[in-house]
Amino acid sequence: MISASHSPKFITKYNRNIYHLFNRYKIAPESNKNLNEICAKEEINVDLLTDLINCYDDLDFLKKIKFENYRIPVLVDYLEKSHKYYLEKRIPELEQSLLKLTHQESFTFNYVIINFFKEYKKDIVSHFKTEDEILFPFCKVLYNYLQYKSQEDLIFILENQKKAFALMEHHKQNKDEIDDLQKVLLKYSPNNKKLSYLEIFLNQMSIFQQDLKIHAEIEENVLMKKTTTILNSLEI
Ligand SMILES: [Fe+2]
Ligand SMILES: [Fe+2]
Repeated sequence: MISASHSPKFITKYNRNIYHLFNRYKIAPESNKNLNEICAKEEINVDLLTDLINCYDDLDFLKKIKFENYRIPVLVDYLEKSHKYYLEKRIPELEQSLLKLTHQESFTFNYVIINFFKEYKKDIVSHFKTEDEILFPFCKVLYNYLQYKSQEDLIFILENQKKAFALMEHHKQNKDEIDDLQKVLLKYSPNNKKLSYLEIFLNQMSIFQQDLKIHAEIEENVLMKKTTTILNSLEI
């Protein structure tokens, strides 16, 4: 199990995929300093980061860690940073692999996979956009209202709670799409000897899906639950 006394260099050597998590917090994966020291300097919540690292290493930790003990702004900060990282880094990386793959494979295969990914990207981008524009600002204002009870925040809550509730009710993980992708690929992959780029793409996709699973779990089972409990207790 990873603790805050470990360094990013040790952690990424132990599990290379965790560099994705460091990247979004702008922590150098090669750093020899320990997490306590880095996080104190950069004002990052070291407990949340350590808990996330352990989940990235082993998904079973998701059920064991009490993420609900973290304050709303800390959780939202992680979720916002993740959206930005997915859009700016992970999706372009997947597209890059897809481009290499399509140079290698037949037209039918290219057509199927490019179209699939286009749809997948469209869905995910609009999902992030709604959360960035509606859900996260709402959660932050709600948290502020609890602290300072300002009229301005109360008006914002009253005006936006219906939209936020609707979004929370319809929130679903992007799990089904990846299952569809696997099926499509198995059906159309034309030449087993030439699957190297396909393997790279699928591998990146599966690491990304694992990342999204942790993200969606914290959104749904932690942030949204916390927000709903606060809203119900306010009786407004
Ligand atoms: Fe999200
Ligand atoms: Fe989401």
